[in-house]
Amino acid sequence: MVTLDDYYTAARSLVEPAAWDYIDGGSGDETTLRENLAGYRRYRLRPRVLVDVSRCDMRTTLLGSPVALPIAVAPTGFHGLVTSEAESACARAAGEVGALMVVSTFATTRLEDVARAARGPLWMQLYVFRDRTVSEDLVKRAEAVGYRALVVTVDAPVRGRRVRDLRNAFALPPGLAPANFPDIPADGSSAELAAQLARHIDPAFSWDDLAWLRSLTRLPIVLKGVLTAEDAAHAAELGVAAIVVSNHGGRQLDGSVTALDALPEVVSAVAGRCEVLVDGGVRRGSDALVALALGARAVLVGRPVLWGMAVSAAEGARDVLSILGAELETAMALCGRTDLASVDASLLRPASHRP
Ligand code: FNR
Repeated sequence: MVTLDDYYTAARSLVEPAAWDYIDGGSGDETTLRENLAGYRRYRLRPRVLVDVSRCDMRTTLLGSPVALPIAVAPTGFHGLVTSEAESACARAAGEVGALMVVSTFATTRLEDVARAARGPLWMQLYVFRDRTVSEDLVKRAEAVGYRALVVTVDAPVRGRRVRDLRNAFALPPGLAPANFPDIPADGSSAELAAQLARHIDPAFSWDDLAWLRSLTRLPIVLKGVLTAEDAAHAAELGVAAIVVSNHGGRQLDGSVTALDALPEVVSAVAGRCEVLVDGGVRRGSDALVALALGARAVLVGRPVLWGMAVSAAEGARDVLSILGAELETAMALCGRTDLASVDASLLRPASHRP
């Protein structure tokens, strides 16, 4: 196992086919899903030479939490689909490599148990429910056990039409449920997952409701799923602490811009007022370097961590994150950059051959 691609191939043969489709797939024609990967190939690196690169420092902070590398675990639901140790294994792995983890609302482990297993900083991802008391309870629980930020996912007011899941009528296997909400889907329903979740997530949640969220908690608020300068500027004006530029790994609006394409306009619109992270399609350390050069403070990685866990639980997740870190470190050194402050847009030029 030398590359993330090796983990992809191994995981694919281990995960039950419908669960694999749920993890691997995107919405619609999966155009955005493919573009997320292709986007990084549109850039080439401009290495500077004769720099002393005997030390390379990848440390940074994310909303004040020190991390060893600018690569974090994106929130993905239902880790129990790939390993019985689920989110606890992931939290352990992230902490061991010094990476931050964002825990999904739809974890298959209770958020308190994930916090107990964690060795590093955690942020809690939040889908706002129609029944606001459920979300209120989740926010309070996360704050009580030391989660350091709330990541509100804003690109999923309704669920994208994921063709593979619809064809498979994908539902969670017996025994697996969103552990934070004992009542879902233990209501006896075997409906397709999207239909189950759609009953709970509030499609009316909008800008004005952020004030309600802020009134519940002292935790910083992060918006995940912003893709335009307009929304980014509005978020910064409202005092949001960070933005994750993201198209949800190509699982929501098919045909949307890639996060990488949207990143420069978001960075420019917030003008330093909040931190900007990005996710979608990072499969190499050099991909992370491109995103950092375009102004991201860190990248998040979704599917590859699940591949790692499918192969060998915490050890696999740790290895995936370590491979990405090692590749980033090598790419930085070969570009003559020894710390993240020296990674900027001068590192990039457009590829002359567009994929
Ligand atoms: C996700 N993603 C996601 N996002 C979120 O805010 N809450 C969630 O519960 C989930 N669940 C989820 C499940 C699975 C199986 C995947 C693949 C993705 C989106 C995720 O946080 C992230 O935006 C993308 O996965 C990033 O793209 P890559 O790294 O998977 O290409």
